[in-house]
Formats: sequence, structure tokens, C-alpha cells
Amino acid sequence: MLPDMIAFDSASRTFFLNGPASSYVLGVDGHGHLLHLHWGAGIRPGALGQIARLLDRPFSPNPYPADRTYSLDTLPQECPTGGLTDFRSPAVLVEHPDGTHVLDLVYLAHVIVAGKPGLPGLPATYVEGSGEADTLTITLIDQPSGVRVELSYSQFRDHDAIARSLRIINAGDAVRFVTRACSASCDLPTADRRLMTLSGGWARERQVEIAPLRPGLQGVQSRRGTSSHQQNPFIAVLDAGADEVHGEVRGLALIYSGCFIAQVEVDQYATARTQIGMDAPALRWRLAPGEAFQAPEAVLVWSSEGLGGMSRTCHRLFRTRLARGQFRDAPRPILINNWEATYFDFNTDKLIAIARKAKEIGVEMMVLDDGWFGAREGDRAGLGDWVCNEQKLPGGLRRLADGIEALDMRFGLWFEPEMVNPDSDLYRAHPDWCLHIPGRGRSEARNQLVLDLTRPEVRAYVYNAVAGVLRSARISYVKWDMNRHLTEVASAGVAAGVAAGEVHHRFVLGLYDVLERITTEFPDVLFESCSGGGGRFDGGMLYYMPQVWCSDNSDAICRLSIQHGTSMAYPLSSMGAHVSACPNHQVHRTTPMRTRGHVAFTGAFGFELDLNKLSPEDLQVTRELVVEYNRVRGLLATGDLYRLRDPSDGQAAAWMVVSPDRRQALVTYVRIQAVGNAPLPVVRLRGLDPAAGYRIGDETIGGDVLMAVGLHLPLTHDFQSLTWHLDRV
Ligand code: DGJ
Repeated sequence: MLPDMIAFDSASRTFFLNGPASSYVLGVDGHGHLLHLHWGAGIRPGALGQIARLLDRPFSPNPYPADRTYSLDTLPQECPTGGLTDFRSPAVLVEHPDGTHVLDLVYLAHVIVAGKPGLPGLPATYVEGSGEADTLTITLIDQPSGVRVELSYSQFRDHDAIARSLRIINAGDAVRFVTRACSASCDLPTADRRLMTLSGGWARERQVEIAPLRPGLQGVQSRRGTSSHQQNPFIAVLDAGADEVHGEVRGLALIYSGCFIAQVEVDQYATARTQIGMDAPALRWRLAPGEAFQAPEAVLVWSSEGLGGMSRTCHRLFRTRLARGQFRDAPRPILINNWEATYFDFNTDKLIAIARKAKEIGVEMMVLDDGWFGAREGDRAGLGDWVCNEQKLPGGLRRLADGIEALDMRFGLWFEPEMVNPDSDLYRAHPDWCLHIPGRGRSEARNQLVLDLTRPEVRAYVYNAVAGVLRSARISYVKWDMNRHLTEVASAGVAAGVAAGEVHHRFVLGLYDVLERITTEFPDVLFESCSGGGGRFDGGMLYYMPQVWCSDNSDAICRLSIQHGTSMAYPLSSMGAHVSACPNHQVHRTTPMRTRGHVAFTGAFGFELDLNKLSPEDLQVTRELVVEYNRVRGLLATGDLYRLRDPSDGQAAAWMVVSPDRRQALVTYVRIQAVGNAPLPVVRLRGLDPAAGYRIGDETIGGDVLMAVGLHLPLTHDFQSLTWHLDRV
């Protein structure tokens, strides 16, 4: 008997993948081509009755000349290729020895298994029992070349989500090159839709951009070697009329941390071909006969409850079946980081003084940021030399960590392991260990070069350097930073067979290899990913590290839109957010301490300032914030997010988090710009139990009332925040 979530109708050669409320349907047509038939609301398995929409269309060529109605150019495809009769964007491109790219992929076989196999060497969603998902693998073959493509689909039982990936196998007898591999490609039947991307830059990551689809190509990409601050490997396609609460939305995430493309091409018949994956020039992967290329995983999420429903599915899946380790479901420690408090200007006494004050208000962990190693007095030198600078920290990390532990706090440490300063012992010893092209210059950014993680000896150095430090002292947390993008992307390991067109991807695979080993060896260490703030906030990094420093911009008002955009795909528990000093160091804005705290109340809350410098009033507020956070930290770690008010109009933001059992909720409202003599604001809540009453302060109000009528808010002034704690009675 076939497993439940995936059914195959052999009469019509149709595959049905069924989530709790959604279906994804594929069909093999009479010529063996795999067609995309449906991705949307659930439908019962059976013949669709309209599998091929065939029509004689001018300028759409016919691979079977006897049939003028058949052209790949007009059919909705599941794994389109180039050079045959489809002129739209291919999902797969393989360069043959003669330089051509034609692949005529036809169905060869399929298999359905219970559970979800992993992707060796790559991050991926997972299951904890074989009943949680079924996996369908369809093998397609191009008979003339012998190239095969294995498409893999895992349908989750509890989520309207599918994990999709592809593997390209060169079963021919000549060397070939993979130059494009889209892990997902879906021909959505109507272009009456909008595309959402998460775009921005350093200090303004993941701003929501929504634009109508128009004929032609639109999308985003990163050529920076990382997923980047500028674009994010997550897009959503919104049906006409869909919004935060209503309508059908489809989200696509690439579980990957390197270069990517995410695009929609609207064709002449209003089909929206939606793709996410990897592409040349960052990808030109050599496949010798018998070799295979495994593309990263894409996660496809469908919702009929607008962007909010899509996000909640992403959050639950990413939080519980992408992130791993003992901190996955646990409330995270409240930490204080010294970066904005001291930058490079610290010593043991200063750090202990910051930690001691933080302990007084209830902070649980002290994190030492950049500058503790080598000749690191600024950003000019030292990266790569992971040996504690004992002139700054006499007695080394062990003494400092013990001093922090003596305060009954945990100790955390910053690293930037993928980098090297030319002014470092590491570079002097191994000048060829960075990415570079012989005979060309080496572009620096922040005075640093990128280590060549494609090389096993470099990975071994990085691993041993970090592991050695972690073994040397009581270190409970690591902030893993990465502060530049990749240029001159080539490896001195080419002689050993590393071709230039593979270096981008091999760098990412090398990073994943190091991360897998480090996080496995140190399961008790909480890892936080960072890349100049949120420059590598993607599903790939979440697999290794359950939280990410969301942005170097710690201003509470800027953070509203950064965290709002980030929450489109990524759970609150993954967003590192800190209370920092005012005037803010990035934008010089002054906001109330309480607002800074409320905005930083994500699942990964902390401070980044010297509390000794606060006024008694502000210090008292930080104490109250910690008390308030402790009340809701479990809720924030696992609750469902409802975005109530989008901050993009510059007026106000509001959101709420509801516990999975709907017993507890936290509502947050932040006024951005006050309006004179304004109407009294009302915010309609969501996600509550309509049949229950909720206690808010001294009052009890029905869940139905709070959702249908709303919560009446007082008038507030610029940058003021308010929170309401709801408990079901
Ligand atoms: C960039 C990070 O985002 C900051 O938080 C800080 O760790 C600096 N790097 C240190 O160089």
C-alpha cells in the first residue's frame, strides 16, 4: 500500500502530494514529459481530466512534427530544460562536450518511500519519525546523452510544505558541466499575481518588496558568495487580492547560504514560471561520467491565509525541523554583548564590570565580541590567529570565562573563522590559503581576505583553531561572524582538481563541513550565526545555528521593518535582537529604553551596551524588561506570530505571539510617528480561542471580542511602545 501523503494514479500517470490543506500535482504526459499540474488548495487524487492543454500555437515549435499542437513552449513543466522547444527559463542546464545544452528529459521511473532521507553534506529539513513525511523520487532521463535527473519531493504530514531537490547524474560517457540547477521550478497557471522579495543592504536587511508580475523575467539573485544582506533566498508569490491575512500565497525558500537565483518569468500565455536555485557563473560544475551533482533543498509553502499563514508554516517547519540541537525548542539565554559597549577597547576589568552590572538586572550570559585574539587592536590585523591576546586579557580566556562563571553567568565568544587579515601570522605562513587568482590582485574588504574553504587543509586549520579555543575554557556560546563577500573566486587548490566554476559552491560545502563537525563536537554550545549583521540569514545557516544576529542596525525603529521582513520566512526564535545605547550608534536616534526592549523581545533577546553608563531610571527599566521577558520567553520561543500592523507606512507597528495551545499571548504595539489629535487606534487580534476569555490586566475580554472588535489602544507619542499580556481564563 502506498503511503498516505503521496499517491500515484497509474491510469493517468499522475502524482498527488497532499498536505493538511494543500495539494501538489504532477503528471507524466503521453510523450513522457513531466508536467506541473497544480500547487494550491487540496484536491482528491484522481484524473484531472485536463492534463494537456494542447493547441497549435505559432512560433512554438513541435518536437514531434506530426503533432502541431504539442510544444514544450506552451506546456506547464516541472523540470524544464533548454534548447529544445521551450524558450523560457530552464530549471536545469547541462553543457555537453559539443557545447550544446539540449536535454529531452522523459520519465524513467519513480519510487515513494516513507520518511525523508537527508542530503549528505547539505543542510535540509528533516523528520523525527518516518510517519512525518513521505518522499517521492522521480527519475527523468535524456536518452541521447544518458544524463538523468532525479527530482525528489518530501511532503510533510503536518505542514502545507514540500521539500524539493534535484540530483543530476552524468550516466553518459563524456565529461559534462552543470551550469544551472533550480531546486524548484513551478509553472503557475496565471500571472495575475505579485512577487514578494526580501531585499535591502547592510543595516537594512530584508525589507519587504511586493510588486505586480509583468511579462518577462523578474527576480533576485546573489552573486556575492553568500546569501547576502542585499537579497534573501526566499520569495513569495501572492495571488490577486492576497494580503497578510487572506488569499493564496506560495513561498519558496532555498536552504542554502551561497549564491542563488530566485525568479519568476511570465510567458506569453501568462504562465508564471517560478524558480529558485543555482546558476552560472557561480555554478559550472564538472561531471565526469558516473558523477552526480546534488542541488540544495528548496522548501515550498502554500497558504490560503495570506502571508501570515505562509510565515507561520515556515516558522513551525524551520524552527522544529530545520534548526537542530538542544537549543532548538528551548528559551535562549538573555545575553549581553560588549561590541557596541566597548568595540575593540576593552580589558578584563571592563568586561567583568559590564557583566557584573548585567547580572544585577538578570542577564544570564556575557559575550566577548571581536578583538580578543592575535594582534587585533582594530579591524586591520589578527584575523586567522585564534590565540588569546594575553596582554589584553591576562590569564587568557580561561581566567575571563572563570571570572564570568563566578558571577553565575555563562560566557560566550566571537569568531570570524572564514577570514584572514593579510597582517596575520596565518597569512604570513600561508599566503595561498585565501581565495585568489594567480597573477591578479587580491581585493580586500574590511582589510580581510576569504579563506579557501574548498581546501581540506584550510578546513582542518579552521576546525582545529575554533575547537581548540572551545576546549580551552568554559565557553557556552559562539557568535560565528563573516564580514565580507567573495571576490577573485578561485582556489590555489585548482592543481588538485578544484575548477574555478566550482569554487563558489565548494566554499559553501566546505563551510557546512566545518560547521557540521564543530556543532557535533560541541552540542552544549549555543551557536549564533552572523554576517555583518544579517548578511547570511538563510535556511542553510539555521540548520547549524538556531539563531542569527538579525542586523548590525540595533535602532529599535529600524529594527521594526528589518524584523518584520525577516519574519516573512524565519521564526522569531531565530532573530538575535539587542537593546543598545542611545543615541543609537547606527542612525543616532534616541528611543525610550522600554521600546528598545520590547522590539528586542524576539526569541533571542539580549543587550549590547554598558549598563554602568545608564541613568538610574533607564537601569530600572532594563530590570523591568528582564522580568517582563522572563514571563514570556517560553511563549516567544515556540509561539505563533501574527503580524497585526505593517510598519512600512512609518506610523506604527504591531504584532502578537500566541502559544500553540492559545492559553497565552503577548501583543506589542510601537508608535513610530505620533499624529496630532489622532483617532484612537484599535488593533484586531488574531489566533486566539474565540470561545475563551482572556485576562488582560484587571479585565477579562472574550477572544471573539478581541478578534472581531479589537483591542482599544491609548494615544501614544513618538517611539513609545506598549505590551499586553493575555492569559486565557
Ligand atoms: C560584525 C557583527 O555584525 C558585529 O555584531 C560585530 O561582531 C562586528 N562584526 C565585530 O567585528
